[in-house]
Amino acid sequence: MRSSRASLLATSVFVCNLLFATPARSAVLIHTNDILGELEPCGCRSNPKGGLARHYTLIKRTENTAGAGAVLQLDGGDLFFASATTAPMLVKQAKVQAEFIAKALDLTGLDAAVPGEKDFSLGLSVFENLLDGHKFKFLAANLVRKNSKNFLEPYAFFSKKSEKTAPLRIAVLGLVGEELSWPKELQVLPAIKTAEKWVPELRKKADFIIVLSHLGFEKDQELAKKVKGIDLIVGSHSQSFLQEPVKLSGASLIQASFKNQYVGVLSLTAPLSENDLGNYKLIGLDSGFDSEPGKPNPIDSLVVDFKKAIAELSTKQDAELGITTTATPQITFQTFPRCVDCHRKQADFWRKTPHFKALKSLVDKKQARNKDCLLCHSLGLGELNGFSDVNKIGALKPDPETPLTSPSSAPSLSLSPEQLSEALDKGAFKTLENAWAPVQCENCHGPSGNHPFGANAYSKKVEKAKCLSCHTPDRATEWYDKTSLQEKVFTEKLKRMTCPPGDPTEEP
Ligand code: HEC
Ligand code: HEC
Ligand code: HEC
Ligand code: HEC
Repeated sequence: MRSSRASLLATSVFVCNLLFATPARSAVLIHTNDILGELEPCGCRSNPKGGLARHYTLIKRTENTAGAGAVLQLDGGDLFFASATTAPMLVKQAKVQAEFIAKALDLTGLDAAVPGEKDFSLGLSVFENLLDGHKFKFLAANLVRKNSKNFLEPYAFFSKKSEKTAPLRIAVLGLVGEELSWPKELQVLPAIKTAEKWVPELRKKADFIIVLSHLGFEKDQELAKKVKGIDLIVGSHSQSFLQEPVKLSGASLIQASFKNQYVGVLSLTAPLSENDLGNYKLIGLDSGFDSEPGKPNPIDSLVVDFKKAIAELSTKQDAELGITTTATPQITFQTFPRCVDCHRKQADFWRKTPHFKALKSLVDKKQARNKDCLLCHSLGLGELNGFSDVNKIGALKPDPETPLTSPSSAPSLSLSPEQLSEALDKGAFKTLENAWAPVQCENCHGPSGNHPFGANAYSKKVEKAKCLSCHTPDRATEWYDKTSLQEKVFTEKLKRMTCPPGDPTEEP
């Protein structure tokens, strides 16, 4: 008779052997959605989460524990661009940005994505060119070409396994929302009917069925209720923050907020167990995922190249056009030096607010030539007479009709971001201030032609909408409860930014 201990040992050896004889099937799913063209978080929030460089670190750490062959990476779409339409001024830059995102996705090893309507911001052909030569696929079963030529594959199979397990055969079906707008060359078919057609077919060949959805959370729920046989719906579009999977009629729904701030990680076994679902994690990409100083990962290096590329593009574009756009060339802008003499009290107040250093913040981030950032961090960007080039130390373009005295005669510099930053720290601002154009008087009160002369009077009252055009929910998170403005917080912020009363020409 063996001792009970020995028999226990024997049993566990037996169980282990059994496991090796018919190994379990398992994999790890990593999913994102609504990246919106964000390669690196803008830094508008304190301790910002996100960025593809940190995403890369997460992938590598997961591969180190689960095995590289076990990781399935999916994205729910709206990857490349911030919005469904792109302002003419930003088109070229947006294209370069999207190309860098595509390069980064090859580095992270994305397996598949479904297109979102924003991915067509620059049109169908730009989208198709973006996929060219890359390793990831875009899937969409219900988005087809009107001219019956092939567009994207409807689904794909992936075989994923760790060292110790048998391959898990995963079918991924792409579906998009019917009521969203798609390029005119494409036609969208009913999502539920399309799923009803494909799911039973895929079931025969796969251990596991994932719908990669750009429908939004509400429609995902309808899909789960109406179509049987789906294991998992990886969602997007509604930018829902689902801390744990939502179970509905046998399917589990997951979605990971937006902009790569959170990434969902789920161990997959077939069939999906309560244990897998219970261990689902939405991981916040905070500074814990930063590369060690001096040891940039491949995406950190890509971000450096990206910033250089758009700075060069911006210089080239401005030179080509002479101006950034001709949208409304009648507007004239006046910078703060023009106000100081008559409104000293207000000017001195403003100089102590964060708006005063809004351009310096971009210089420090090496993003002072990124037009996407400048829109909120400077004055009059894109207008004939507006801010154009940080290296001309923010000179507002001279207005050909009304020659301005100080701003247009400002010196122009040619400094690297480092030199510029240093110069500003040393007080260059004081001598060159007449040309520098951070967020200032006219962002709130103007623009208003040639005040104090002429008909266009400045408005003293600053409309709330003006503040909120820059202080959006994603840039000024603490102002909002999700997307609704917290009035109390706003009142307090407005108070902090309200110029003191005082008559013109009154001494402080
Ligand atoms: C839609 C408007 C908007 C855009 C576009 C924008 N920002 Fe901002 N940014 C803001 C606002 C508003 C704040 C202040 C946020 C707060 O503190 O709540 C801010 C703050 C910042 C700060 C923090 C400054 C500090 O030290 O406190 C940095 C850095 C910054 N932005 C960089 C960028 C970069 C880089 C980009 C482009 C990639 C960018 N921003 C694009 C509106 C914008
Ligand atoms: C030569 C003096 C002078 C200069 C320069 C000047 N202002 Fe004024 N400003 C005035 C006077 C006088 C008033 C009050 C009369 C009025 O409402 O027009 C005034 C009023 C204002 C008001 C309040 C309007 C109201 O309804 O009470 C704002 C805001 C303002 N100025 C902003 C500016 C800004 C911004 C600049 C710089 C671009 C500037 N001013 C330059 C003289 C000046
Ligand atoms: C043209 C865009 C723009 C407009 C308009 C604007 N801001 Fe800002 N605001 C910014 C930027 C950019 C920053 C960050 C500056 C930095 O630190 O680089 C900022 C910073 C702030 C901050 C400090 C950060 C915070 O959230 O506590 C406050 C407060 C603020 N703004 C309030 C206001 C109010 C109130 C208005 C309207 C009266 C307003 N802003 C209008 C762009 C804008
Ligand atoms: C962030 C937005 C913002 C910026 C930037 C800003 N102001 Fe103001 N300013 C306000 C607000 C808000 C008020 C108060 C409006 C009210 O009373 O409803 C105000 C009031 C004023 C007034 C009227 C003062 C009075 O007697 O009541 C003047 C003049 C003025 N600002 C001039 C300036 C000048 C000059 C600059 C640039 C140096 C400037 N402001 C920059 C938001 C701003």
